Amino acid sequence: MTGIVYVNGEYLPAEEAKISVFDRGFLMADAIYELTAVVDGKLIDFPAHLARLDRSLAELDIVNPHGYDEWLALHRELVARNAVTEGSVYVEVTRGNTGERAFEYPPAEIPPTVVAFATNRPGIVDSPAAAAGLRIVTLPDLRWQRRDIKTVQLIYQAQAKMLAKRAGADDGWLVEDGFVTEGTSNNAYIVRKGRIVTRPLGNDILHGITRASLLRFAREAQMEVEERQFTVAEAQAADEAFITSATGFVTPVVEIDGTAVGTGKPGPVALRLREIYIDESRKTAL
Ligand code: PDD
Repeated sequence: MTGIVYVNGEYLPAEEAKISVFDRGFLMADAIYELTAVVDGKLIDFPAHLARLDRSLAELDIVNPHGYDEWLALHRELVARNAVTEGSVYVEVTRGNTGERAFEYPPAEIPPTVVAFATNRPGIVDSPAAAAGLRIVTLPDLRWQRRDIKTVQLIYQAQAKMLAKRAGADDGWLVEDGFVTEGTSNNAYIVRKGRIVTRPLGNDILHGITRASLLRFAREAQMEVEERQFTVAEAQAADEAFITSATGFVTPVVEIDGTAVGTGKPGPVALRLREIYIDESRKTAL
């Protein structure tokens, strides 16, 4: 990737940006991240993404190196310097560079490492994937048990995505104890008799920012929401299914493990929710 990136206080061309091989983010995935969508050059759901960044850091005893205004300025600077109108901003905070490899956390004076970049992704709003719907395969959820912390420890998510692609699907849904937890990089939903069903929050899934906003918008639109677990069989027999994530917004799912969901086409509830989410979140974009 090219463009201007941020590393520890400096804005640099991507090819000049460097971090140490002793950085704990690199050696131990001892790092957290956030990804915020950009639409019309503005940040979607920004305060909620920052609140989750703060929580992820607190759960791992990493001091947040910046306040709200500094984070907002950093995001905006990257959007401006990279002329992003539609895309995303990625920020990562690691426990820093200790100059050695040791399991113990370093002393408090070692500052966290902060890296960030912005990516142009035209087509996240008028998305071909949303128009076509996704074909999903299910896979066992083999991740650690603190999936509520948005760490960069993403190897199983990457592997699961590849297994899904090799199986001819677009993405994977992860399953634990017979119930769907979430997608490889998104939250999972079904629609039954007009009701939106999604797994309740816990340590076993990421607390999606898109999920939180979407459920609020759905309730405001008098739609019924049930936060409970569902099985793969229930999902296959549902009227509709969909996923949410920062850059996927709401994207319909049309097939699960080779079985068509509903009509096998993107469903009206998912498409309506996508429209509501994009319209409403544009109003509060920063
Ligand atoms: N992924 N669940 C998982 C495992 C995720 O990785 C993500 C987001 C979500 C959705 O969260 P949100 O609505 O806050 O984006 C759920 C991001 C987009 C990524 O890793 O690129």
